[in-house]
Amino acid sequence: MAPVDPHSYTDGAHPVSAHAALAFYLDFAASTIHASALVTLSAPHTGDLLLDTRALAVHSATTAPAPDAAPAPIPFSLAADADPVLGTALTLALPPDTASFLLTFSTSPAASALQWLAPPQTASGLPFVFSQCQSIHARSVFPCHDTPAARITYSLLLNVPAQLSAVAAARHVARRDPVPSDHRGACDDALWCAPGRIVEEFEMAQCVPPYLFAFAAGGIGSRDLGPRTRVYAEGGDTLLDDAAREFVGVEDMVKVGESLFGPYEWERFDLLVLPPSFPYGGMENPRMVFLTPTVIKGDAAGAQVVAHELAHSWTGNLITNKTNEDFWLNEGFTTYAERRIVEVVQGEERAALNSGIGWRGLNRMMERFKDNMEFTKLKPKMAGIDPDDVYSEVPYEKGFQFLWRIERQIGRPAFDEFLKKYIANFKFQSIDTETFLEFLKANVPGIENEVDLHEWINGTGLPPDAMEPESATYKKICVLAAEFKSGKIPSEEEVADWSGQEWELYLENLPTDVEASQVTALDERYKLSESRDYEVKVAFLQLAILTGCRCYFNEVEKCLKQVGRMKYLRPLYSSLARCSGEEEKMLAKRIFSEAQEFYHPIARGVAESILLKHG
Ligand code: BES
Ligand code: ZN
Repeated sequence: MAPVDPHSYTDGAHPVSAHAALAFYLDFAASTIHASALVTLSAPHTGDLLLDTRALAVHSATTAPAPDAAPAPIPFSLAADADPVLGTALTLALPPDTASFLLTFSTSPAASALQWLAPPQTASGLPFVFSQCQSIHARSVFPCHDTPAARITYSLLLNVPAQLSAVAAARHVARRDPVPSDHRGACDDALWCAPGRIVEEFEMAQCVPPYLFAFAAGGIGSRDLGPRTRVYAEGGDTLLDDAAREFVGVEDMVKVGESLFGPYEWERFDLLVLPPSFPYGGMENPRMVFLTPTVIKGDAAGAQVVAHELAHSWTGNLITNKTNEDFWLNEGFTTYAERRIVEVVQGEERAALNSGIGWRGLNRMMERFKDNMEFTKLKPKMAGIDPDDVYSEVPYEKGFQFLWRIERQIGRPAFDEFLKKYIANFKFQSIDTETFLEFLKANVPGIENEVDLHEWINGTGLPPDAMEPESATYKKICVLAAEFKSGKIPSEEEVADWSGQEWELYLENLPTDVEASQVTALDERYKLSESRDYEVKVAFLQLAILTGCRCYFNEVEKCLKQVGRMKYLRPLYSSLARCSGEEEKMLAKRIFSEAQEFYHPIARGVAESILLKHG
């Protein structure tokens, strides 16, 4: 066996899936999908073929239905033991020259990609389900070659109750009545065609890595933003109006992206605002970015997250990391591209401030991984490691630093030209870091003599030519934060033009060896614990926990029960669990036991491992 990816059972010596025709019957009562997948291979194959699965029940495997031959059963077996990181290999014994095959299967209610919300848990009072497949969760939805090296096109039928609508990261073809020939054995005809069910049909004609497969279904409405942009949300008119206001600038942002990186290749750029349990800030699903509702703050600050996910339309979705060891190719390039977009739409100072915040975060990561320096590398070894466990700012910010270093070396005009050429050259391909380096050296002759490429990619820590970004706002805030130690609280005048990002940076820079009374005094003045901006609120609550202000525990509990974004769960749970006091540890455990039902499975796993680690 020749594995192509440490996170997949895919055998590099075999062909891979090129197209999947998927039919899903969504059973909300059982939190289960009954499904079929008609898979076409990149080349005909004979003998064993390995696919990735996680917690799937596989019911049947047959040769593809053909007009001239009855489908023949294909022997298949699921490995006896599930690997905690990889899941369970599905081995098919394909008859000679098999080009395509049909699988029927069901997902588990515990499928790691899926969150099923019951009516009492949603804003509309209707059930809701959504998927989050990055990094390695697509395999919990359908058997696949779950490596970004294997790109697929797909069609998708979602059979849902007629009160619901469905969206997917694909072109919407039709909303129509179910017919028996649709389902290819996903379930029986009576279930598929039952009264009160409808089918939403989608087509993804551009090849994408499996982690970009995505859908959601629920009481979803929408508002148009521009000719190729629309926002979707569950939660009724008020939320949709707020979202439409927050995202008015999106159409223009797409144009900015095109001017910087070349044509927008995905036709539409729609946004889906998810329920508050969505575990990320944003996820770059093509044609339909998924967003946390916490980006809607009424002050246009959600723009940064949207700029980031939009930037992935070029870096990540057009050119994709070949494996998770090359993750920086996705996130480092995207962080760089995001800041270029922000620079145009919000100005140079805002972009520099974001770079400054990123620099702080990067330096914190060097501290977090000081006993595990492998994860300070741009290209770490990941065999046996769950990507969710080592998710950090390193690929984002060290990747940004590396590209910025090259930009400084060759100048912006040359770097811009290089970027456009890189994107045009590798679009719709999955590449590794070495391929990028070869392309860089070929197109920027002599670069290896100016920048220590090997040190940047394979070295631990930060290279000597990494650079702290210069931002006047950033500097001012750092000075103010240092003054807090001697009791100074910034004046109204000093904070007059602060948005959430300035407050976040200020709070994260405050020393934690201060009196609790100082922290409460700060809050009395600026009401940070009540901020509508979760970045600010969480940064404040974390400071409160670390400085022993127990009067905020109610607020911490409310926060952990309202929002399931991991960026907030991580600091709050880990600062509670790391406290020396028993009260904090007990509180963390109680809140988790009461809130876990509300979390997405990925977030639940991450919170659980924080609590386990700190006992
Ligand atoms: N692709 C990531 C989210 C992700 C990464 C999901 C790894 C699963 C595994 C997305 O583009 C992202 O980086 N989101 C950030 C946005 C921020 C950097 C503006 C987030 O969710 O915080
Ligand atoms: Zn990203």
